[in-house]
Amino acid sequence: MPRVGLIGGSGLYNMTGLEVIKKVKISTPFGDPSGEFIIGRLEGVECVFLPRHGYGHVHNPTEVNYRANIYGMKVLGVEFLIGVSAVGSLKDDIVPGEVVLVDQFIDRTHHRQHTFFENGCVGHVSMAHPVCEKLREYLYESCEEACSSAKVKFHAHGTYVNMEGPAFSTIAESCLYCSWDADVIGMTCLAEARLAREAEISYAVLAMATDYDSWHPNHDNVSVDAVVAVLKV
Ligand code: ADE
Repeated sequence: MPRVGLIGGSGLYNMTGLEVIKKVKISTPFGDPSGEFIIGRLEGVECVFLPRHGYGHVHNPTEVNYRANIYGMKVLGVEFLIGVSAVGSLKDDIVPGEVVLVDQFIDRTHHRQHTFFENGCVGHVSMAHPVCEKLREYLYESCEEACSSAKVKFHAHGTYVNMEGPAFSTIAESCLYCSWDADVIGMTCLAEARLAREAEISYAVLAMATDYDSWHPNHDNVSVDAVVAVLKV
């Protein structure tokens, strides 16, 4: 059975139900990953878990060593990788607490190392379809079951604006992204999608909306407290 990798985002620093087999420290040519990789079993499936921001949330989105994280997943034999992410909603009908299976990205970052190809090794992967459709379909089937029993709505598709952060968007930026018809905004997943593609790992995103960013006239502008409050529910 292929190994499944999970990269936890804000609020997800360990996996409930994961039977831990061992913890592995990996050094890579790209530096240190966010922390030790936890190898375990979740409902009979071998999994590798890593919290993107480190144990204790010590790496901000710009500082996360995405290359080392994806390199480590590859070394550990991960074939299917799920990036879990808290996101802001850019649509009225994506309500905080709901799940979005992201399948497109818009890049608004400017300080990221998001390729393994450098120093004379040149490669250009296709990113037309940035997430693995097969893995997104598996997530869809799981969401149909899990979300209906938890009475949580989920969205099968979504375009994710990847901003740099760590500060949240201004109102003007937030309104601009809405005018682009994007669905959600976050700070992390695009680098993982690109690097996973280069590493030939199937990658998909399970995002949870936590706020309405800063565009919504009837809701408060996003704050860390608001994000954490939704993640805790
Ligand atoms: N993560 C959660 N909410 C967010 C927002 N509004 N902008 C960027 N990243 C987020």
